[in-house]
Amino acid sequence: MNAGEGQHSYVKNSTYQRGVVNVAKSIIEEEIAKKLDVSSINSFRIADYGCATGHNSFPAIKIITQAITRKISGLASHDHEFSVYFNDNVTNDFNTLFRSLPKNNYYNALGLPGDFHGRLLPKSSLHFAYCSWSLHWLTEAPATALNNGATMYSGNIKDQVYDAYLYQFGKDLGSFLDARAHELVSGGLMTLLIPTVPSFWDPQTEYTLITEINLLGSCLMDMAKEGIIDEAKVDAFKTPLYFATPEELKTIIDNNNNYSIERFEILNNPGKHTLPSVSDRAAFYRAVIEKLIGDHFGTEIIDEFFNRYMKKLAASSVLVNSGNDKSHVTLVVLKRKAN
Ligand SMILES: C[S@@+](CC[C@H](N)C(=O)[O-])C[C@H]1O[C@@H](n2cnc3c(N)ncnc32)[C@H](O)[C@@H]1O
Repeated sequence: MNAGEGQHSYVKNSTYQRGVVNVAKSIIEEEIAKKLDVSSINSFRIADYGCATGHNSFPAIKIITQAITRKISGLASHDHEFSVYFNDNVTNDFNTLFRSLPKNNYYNALGLPGDFHGRLLPKSSLHFAYCSWSLHWLTEAPATALNNGATMYSGNIKDQVYDAYLYQFGKDLGSFLDARAHELVSGGLMTLLIPTVPSFWDPQTEYTLITEINLLGSCLMDMAKEGIIDEAKVDAFKTPLYFATPEELKTIIDNNNNYSIERFEILNNPGKHTLPSVSDRAAFYRAVIEKLIGDHFGTEIIDEFFNRYMKKLAASSVLVNSGNDKSHVTLVVLKRKAN
């Protein structure tokens, strides 16, 4: 399955994630200043995993390269160059990315197509890895039977389905961490920004990303009841997304012996107020799962489906107010231990 987001509508909606980069800026700068060993490096290699078409990747790369440059300028000899690898799935629109590269960028920009759960770069070749808003995409939705029309697990109910999703997330994140451990030099840094949720929230007054995805499922069920789509197809539709709790994330990372955790910060979802209207929020989710819905049910239902979603958002006294969103983003800075 091609995990990811509809390329065309992604750019206009990705300001949601942009807020996150801005909040992460000072932490990334501080970690590079304090912890990245730059003493004997002239040619820095940096990679962004899950870069999409670059809208949020370019500002992040600017923050990273400028922080390294500041650190190097304190050294006696500071001749250096940067190579930046832009990774995403092979189906990503890399043409748009390379056409939109900042005009006076001062790095060699290289495309790195492929699944980031596997090794993509030579052993011990990378100094800084970055990955934002991408690791919640699973390689596949768990095959656990779930004939209730839900598009994914319920975060508040820790049942068999929840366990199956968590297992898949742990497996996928583990593969990602192993692959980067192969690529990073000893002492190399990695920054991860991962959307997360609390382990419990009060559905009467609060919601999270999980609530929003399951609301999409309820629109599918309504359409099945009205005979617009096939109920069996709704039961078979599962979203390959997992929003971990920070505690789950920490356990999975702790279990991987290749890294030391340098920072682990829960950011209060800095993007949530950037999509004030229900139509903006429906457009955001349309960008996220339009392709999945179209592939499974046919593209002819898409407009009606997202119209229904927008109306349901507007009708919910809880979901209509983004102040009730209890989702967050967890920022993790890891350091590759010596091989
Ligand atoms: C929500 S976008 C995030 C884009 C950008 N990093 C940001 O912060 O705005 C998620 C990106 O991850 C990519 N992605 C998801 N799974 C991937 C995988 N297994 N390998 C490579 N890229 C993947 C998707 O194609 C998509 O471009």
